[in-house]
Amino acid sequence: MWGVKFNVVVCDRLLIEEILIHNNDNLGSGGPYTAWNRLILDSLGATNSLRLASGTQWRSCREALSPVSMPLNTRQMAPVVSEGCTRLVHKIAKVAESQTTVDVHKLYVDFTMETIVASAFGESAEGQSVGEGSELLVATNDFIAKFNDCMSSSAEELTVFLSHFPLARPLLVRLAGRLAVTRAHRHLKEAGCRLVEARKALASPPQDILQLLLETSLSSYNGECNTAAAGDDDEEEKLSDQQVVCQAIEFLISGQETTAAGLASVSYQLAVNTRVQDRVQEEIDALFNKRTKKSLYDASLRLPYLDSVIQETLRLRPPTPMIIRHCEADIELERHTLPKGADVYIPTFLVHKSPDLWPQPYRFDPGRFSNEERMKREAMTHMPFGAGPHVCLGAKFALAQMKMALVSILHHYTFVLSPKTEVPLRIAHSAAADVPLNGVVLLILPRNTTATPTL
Ligand code: HEM
Repeated sequence: MWGVKFNVVVCDRLLIEEILIHNNDNLGSGGPYTAWNRLILDSLGATNSLRLASGTQWRSCREALSPVSMPLNTRQMAPVVSEGCTRLVHKIAKVAESQTTVDVHKLYVDFTMETIVASAFGESAEGQSVGEGSELLVATNDFIAKFNDCMSSSAEELTVFLSHFPLARPLLVRLAGRLAVTRAHRHLKEAGCRLVEARKALASPPQDILQLLLETSLSSYNGECNTAAAGDDDEEEKLSDQQVVCQAIEFLISGQETTAAGLASVSYQLAVNTRVQDRVQEEIDALFNKRTKKSLYDASLRLPYLDSVIQETLRLRPPTPMIIRHCEADIELERHTLPKGADVYIPTFLVHKSPDLWPQPYRFDPGRFSNEERMKREAMTHMPFGAGPHVCLGAKFALAQMKMALVSILHHYTFVLSPKTEVPLRIAHSAAADVPLNGVVLLILPRNTTATPTL
């Protein structure tokens, strides 16, 4: 039929492995949001990005960006996250004192926005909350809000329509997209470019993600925003300045909502499963009671039970619930052929609840992630950060952020359900993640702890 698209849903773990690992070169970015993401790139003046590139362009982009995902750099960003944790705990102290309920998801949205803007762009987030403060924070916030409005209103239906009728896409995307989010795009791009220009003038720039991107991109540090793009003749590893800005913004959009949603889900699970929360607090207390002084980051690496709780939460409620790819050539699998032009949907939220892989799949049980159980687990059964060559670049950073925030809170406070808590939580789709539809409303009460903090 004219313009109709073939979509395939794959839940079998062996097929997923064949597709994501062995056929990566023939896959591109797919699904309803791709058209919107391309529009964002257009208006940011970049020709491609990690999320949207495929084949050799994606490979050189990923290679150029890999230093950003190294553990060393997560450690480098730790002081910024630590400062964010201090501000978060101050806010929580006020809530705990007043004994009123609070939407913890909102607190985490501010926390992750502040820390990721600071880690990505070196912008001081001191004392800021979302909607105030730096030009870039405001521009990003405005852009995310407009983009989410666009996705959640009738535009979502339009986007689904576009994914089924690809030939109508260029015209409709331009019409709908330009109306809704163009001004926000422009502000974001201008704010980003001003930041790159200002950065070039600094003698000793901060070691943030933007700087790492600029250094790894080998961009020339003179003149206006450099517009040479990866993929231009003999400049394959080079990102243009606009792409650097775009990439840093993409990190921000990929990492902020997902990490906030993950933190909100863990807090909810701890409030519901009080024994699990007790055990996490005992583990934290035991670490704090040891006399050796550690940074918050180092401490957060030594909490295996907290890690299991986070992994189990991400199993039950992966913030990115679906991996989507576009077949750029016919793909021959062992028993099937995926035709060129098809979109392949891998619903991780369903794989994570398959009774064949996870006995009693709806039960919250961090024991599934003990060392012993992890050793038995087969590949492609737990994929909150994706799998294969496109696996999340920010996974280590996201986990570090989540652990540091939870350690800071749970050492002093306890999450408690209130009559206002929605049980079970209902979920809404936003631009980058599945988020709690009505927030996660909890009481947060001080603990009666006798442990002496040594951190
Ligand atoms: C709990 C938090 C997070 C979750 C659940 C998450 C999930 C994911 C998933 C499932 C993918 C793979 C998508 C695919 O294969 O199509 C992905 C890719 C990616 N993520 Fe994350 N993410 C998180 C945090 C972050 C953070 C903090 C950053 C950056 C600072 C980040 C940056 C990226 C990037 C750049 C990619 C694209 C990688 C590529 O295509 O090569 N993510 N993420």
